[in-house]
Amino acid sequence: MEIRLITADDADRIMPVRAYAFDATPLTPQRAEELVRYMSFRLQNTTLAAEEDGEVLASVSGIPMRQNLRGVVHPMLGVAGVVSNPLARRRGHVRTLMHDLMRRGREQGRPLSVLYPFRSGFYARLGYLGLTAAKTVTLRPEALASLLTVDLPGEVRLRRIAEGWEDVLALQDRFLGSRHGFTEFPEYRRHQPRDDDEHWLVTAHRDGRVVGALPYRITEYGGELAGGVLLHDGAIARALLLRFLAGHADQVQTITLSVPPAERPEQWSTDFAGTIASTVAIPHPAPPMVRVLDLPALTGLPAGEARVTITVVDDALLGGDWTLDGAGGALTVTPGASASEVRLTSAALSGLVYGALGPEEIVARGLGAVPAEAWDGISTLFPRADPWVYLDF
Ligand SMILES: CC(C)(COP(=O)(O)OP(=O)(O)OC[C@H]1O[C@@H](n2cnc3c(N)ncnc32)[C@H](O)[C@@H]1OP(=O)(O)O)[C@@H](O)C(=O)NCCC(=O)NCCS
Repeated sequence: MEIRLITADDADRIMPVRAYAFDATPLTPQRAEELVRYMSFRLQNTTLAAEEDGEVLASVSGIPMRQNLRGVVHPMLGVAGVVSNPLARRRGHVRTLMHDLMRRGREQGRPLSVLYPFRSGFYARLGYLGLTAAKTVTLRPEALASLLTVDLPGEVRLRRIAEGWEDVLALQDRFLGSRHGFTEFPEYRRHQPRDDDEHWLVTAHRDGRVVGALPYRITEYGGELAGGVLLHDGAIARALLLRFLAGHADQVQTITLSVPPAERPEQWSTDFAGTIASTVAIPHPAPPMVRVLDLPALTGLPAGEARVTITVVDDALLGGDWTLDGAGGALTVTPGASASEVRLTSAALSGLVYGALGPEEIVARGLGAVPAEAWDGISTLFPRADPWVYLDF
């Protein structure tokens, strides 16, 4: 088996394997052509193929993205397009490709990686840790009626998404700089919602600045207002958008929205009623998983005042002894002098760095060995935080 880096000219070679996994197949000739076009555009990603006798057995893709980690924006490897030929499954091809992709991601200067798993156990063994799931909120517009009479500073604008796209970009850029976990696509992938132009966009504005946005479609009269991700910078921006939605009471039956894990829709309005759900299924949908690819590259990360030594086990990228020091509120990472009693898998270390796990949970989930004396130091160094990945890929 040989691993090849795929270029835009090879799009037609991996398209059938990709389509078999993710599309309604067999494809019509027209759809096949569409997919090749679409994929050649995306082959600015790092796409690898495992081949034997010129046949593609499996493929993985790395998207050059960016992510906010505890306030600092880092290059991030977004992993997508993980597929194998149905005749070549369970032979370890995807595992081999993933190791290669992660190594290349690190060489490209990407200390972080994010993916959406088909089964979390597969990627846990590759060092990834699952985050909290985003929530889908389903409600009747009447559930927001109490907001109709609230006097709010600011206003909303309604446009097609292509027309309001600059406002979406402004919000995304602001959140990338300020929200832990927030992600951004590379330029060549970023503007797809604008180019598709299939959604309405309602935006909230205060003092001449965009503070919230929601893309949505209306399915039919008496049907659903199907919203995307509700983006806002605080309670007033959120209420401006929700008050706008409340105005659809005599037009649609239900509203659906996607919100970050930490959002509390039950507190949006008086008389709120609805469903706030997270569905996790194998193979889909599932919450994102995260991984650190390069620990020394995280030097300078905001951290608490504590010093711990750790040993990362069984990991080609992070394995070994490390001293982590948060003196002055910024992380320094140096190779440790000897093995530590704090023994972490890469998934456990990734969980600490992202604030998704504490030391007690690492022990409780069997992701490492952390003596109780070390719990305080580790919790101080890496305080719990609520990462929100935002993009799906
Ligand atoms: C999911 C998918 C990519 C897995 O591909 P695969 O080629 O079977 O992947 P691998 O062979 O590397 O690993 C799969 C499993 O086979 C096991 N395996 C690997 N070599 C093996 C061998 N020689 N004998 C038996 N099992 C083996 C692996 O251990 C792994 O199981 P585990 O998760 O319990 O550890 C493939 O089923 C697929 O294309 N599915 C549809 C699309 C999809 O879901 N993509 C993932 C999106 S994130």
